[in-house]
Amino acid sequence: MASSDFDSAPPGGLWAALSSVRASWNRFWRRMSFYLPKRLYARSLLIVVMPMILLQSVVAYVYMDRYWRAVTERLSAATARELAAIVDLVEAEPAGSDYKDIIAIANRRLEYNVYVLPHEPLPAPGGVPFFDVLNETLHNEIAQRISLPFWIDTVGNSRTVEMRVQFPDKVLQVFAPRKQAAPSNTHIFLVWMVGTSLVLLFIAITFLRNQIRPIIALTEAAESFGRGRPAPPDFRPRGAEEVRRAGLAFIQMRERIERQMEQRTAMLSGVSHDLRTILTRFRLQLALVGSKSDREALNQDIDAMQSMLEGYLQFARGEAEEEESSIFDLETYRDRIEEEAELHGRKLEFSLKGDPLVKVRPQAFNRLLANLVGNAFRYAKSVRMDVEHRPAMLIITIDDDGPGIPPEQREEVFKPFVRLEGGRNLDSSGTGLGLAIARDVARSHGGDIVLTDSPLGGLRVIVRVPA
Ligand SMILES: Nc1ncnc2c1ncn2[C@@H]1O[C@H](COP(=O)(O)OP(=O)(O)OP(=O)(O)O)[C@@H](O)[C@H]1O
Ligand SMILES: [Mg+2]
Repeated sequence: MASSDFDSAPPGGLWAALSSVRASWNRFWRRMSFYLPKRLYARSLLIVVMPMILLQSVVAYVYMDRYWRAVTERLSAATARELAAIVDLVEAEPAGSDYKDIIAIANRRLEYNVYVLPHEPLPAPGGVPFFDVLNETLHNEIAQRISLPFWIDTVGNSRTVEMRVQFPDKVLQVFAPRKQAAPSNTHIFLVWMVGTSLVLLFIAITFLRNQIRPIIALTEAAESFGRGRPAPPDFRPRGAEEVRRAGLAFIQMRERIERQMEQRTAMLSGVSHDLRTILTRFRLQLALVGSKSDREALNQDIDAMQSMLEGYLQFARGEAEEEESSIFDLETYRDRIEEEAELHGRKLEFSLKGDPLVKVRPQAFNRLLANLVGNAFRYAKSVRMDVEHRPAMLIITIDDDGPGIPPEQREEVFKPFVRLEGGRNLDSSGTGLGLAIARDVARSHGGDIVLTDSPLGGLRVIVRVPA
């Protein structure tokens, strides 16, 4: 029974080793990040420059070590062979000869300048510059082919290589063009390599600047907004798609927060204004208090004040609560709303197109629908609800056959505590917050609510929410 437990458990030793490797890796990066540049620009530049330097070092090393050395060896061997041939010819020449033919042929065919000097000691070996392959290679190649003492100078005159061979009675001096003994123009390769890297670096810097500037601009805009300062006037989303999207999202977020703050202020002033009006009336009525009807009026005002305050508190509470997005099932909602229509004795037609599952904040979204449908049930007899879930948008249309709202008041009714009941049959149960709450919820989801005329004769409410 416990065997499966044993099977699934990782072997203790391996597990410990793995976690210790991970721990030291994390420690290494923590320490590294202390030394690494902190800014995005410098970091991205490092990401571009480091591989380039690494690649070039490897290429330069391989080139120098393999290719250059191999070619030098070949060319030096050829030079050594030619020198050996000249030495053989000089040795074969009878004593007293002036070596004219040999010198002429060497000059014409090999481009060597050959001199036969009287016997003299060879100069001491000269210093060899750092990273000079030629001197050593040529020396080895000549030593393999000539048994006489010799001396070479690959440094003195940079265009030629001087070689001297000591015969018993004379010294043979040969000047060979340097390009015949060693690959020339090696520096050109390095110049090209460094040059192209500089060009690449320049391009990388220019591109990186352009990519990073929008991020910096977004950072600054977000910082200034977070500190309650006005946004930089020229801020607009730019750069790569993700950055642009972040910028757009930031602008929308800022607008939403600003709208909400405006609305709250408007509501607060509405509350205080309305309460003040009622309290003034209170005072007047209190002054005249006496009859029973006066006291009744007083009670009515107290009720109005209470429901207004309660409505406000509810609204404020709903705004403050934070809710996670999750799945809202429109089919379950349909069942519920159909029951409710029956309960209210209203006629409801419901149609649903598309996926019935939407991702929203369910409680807030429920509040939105409850307010709109509640209005329709309150002000009308028959209601139609068309729900259409498109790929990125949820559109809910609620039609009713009630009195509707005149066009010039369709913005007004969204304001908190605004009710149109003054001129029509007064239903005192409402506080005028329903539409304000509904629009607030829609906007907090990134959508909105519009009011128009309904084909049923009443009001049509269209809710659009990205989902
Ligand atoms: N479907 C509708 N038909 C006609 N008029 C409407 C409809 N919905 C809203 N209204 C008008 O808009 C006003 C504001 O609506 P809102 O939902 O904000 O407040 P309320 O319904 O009066 O009160 P509450 O929703 O806070 O209980 C209402 O007083 C009403 O006059
Ligand atoms: Mg309402």
